[in-house]
Amino acid sequence: MTEPAADWGGAARPSRRIGRRIEAHGTIASTNDRARELLDEPEGAGTVVVAEAQTAGRGRRGRTWDSPPGVNLLVSVALRPRLPAERAWQLGQAIALAAADACASRASVWLKWPNDIVAADGAKLGGLLIETVVEGDRVAGTVAGIGINVNWPRARMPEAIAGTATSLLDLAGTPIDRVALLGDLLERLEDEIARLEAGTSPLSRYRARCATLGRDVAVGTPEGLVEGMAVDVDAQGALVVRTHGGPRHISSGEVVRVRDGVPA
Ligand code: BTN
Repeated sequence: MTEPAADWGGAARPSRRIGRRIEAHGTIASTNDRARELLDEPEGAGTVVVAEAQTAGRGRRGRTWDSPPGVNLLVSVALRPRLPAERAWQLGQAIALAAADACASRASVWLKWPNDIVAADGAKLGGLLIETVVEGDRVAGTVAGIGINVNWPRARMPEAIAGTATSLLDLAGTPIDRVALLGDLLERLEDEIARLEAGTSPLSRYRARCATLGRDVAVGTPEGLVEGMAVDVDAQGALVVRTHGGPRHISSGEVVRVRDGVPA
């Protein structure tokens, strides 16, 4: 796709900090890579990079992010949040809340720890790839990469993901205006970043939206699989899993199995 299919400029917020400029692409390698470049430009922070298709879309943990052209939301925002390095991890929760809340006014959605956007049955609606640069004791810049399945019916998804993924179209039962969704997301993102900078933690609101809590889970971690009941997200953002051997605080991992939910 050489030209953007939607009028993405409609989501611009000229007088605000986030979304002053929207850079819309037909096809790009990865919106995250472009947003990272923009952070090196003097006026780059606050710019939103959106694309109809990516040739090298990236997911967490080195995975690819695949999306057919012209139907989903593929966006990265170049941010320069005024935050100490020790609170950089809160960006994930704040950005996840902004994305989930934007979707939640269109369908019932939840978060799966750490920051997948999921439907009530656990099917994945979207994901976040957050890349933060720390200099000394400060956050120097962050790229908030967000991929949301919008008007991509499950029936047209590849077999490999159709059983575990969904879209806003499927959940809402009607096509979704992608430009309006982006505008909503940017507004919420600006609010979330302002709250963070004011010293307010997103943790309690994150916990309330986190569907992982109260479930029997298996979590893949660098130290191996941890199985038990997910009971909390602690003050550092780690998932607390009650296992036979006692509580485990998992700061980096992937929930690979949830009982009573769609396998991840
Ligand atoms: C995940 O769940 O693994 C995260 C997926 C993040 C995908 C988005 S799409 C827009 C942005 N550009 C990328 O290359 N990745 C993110």
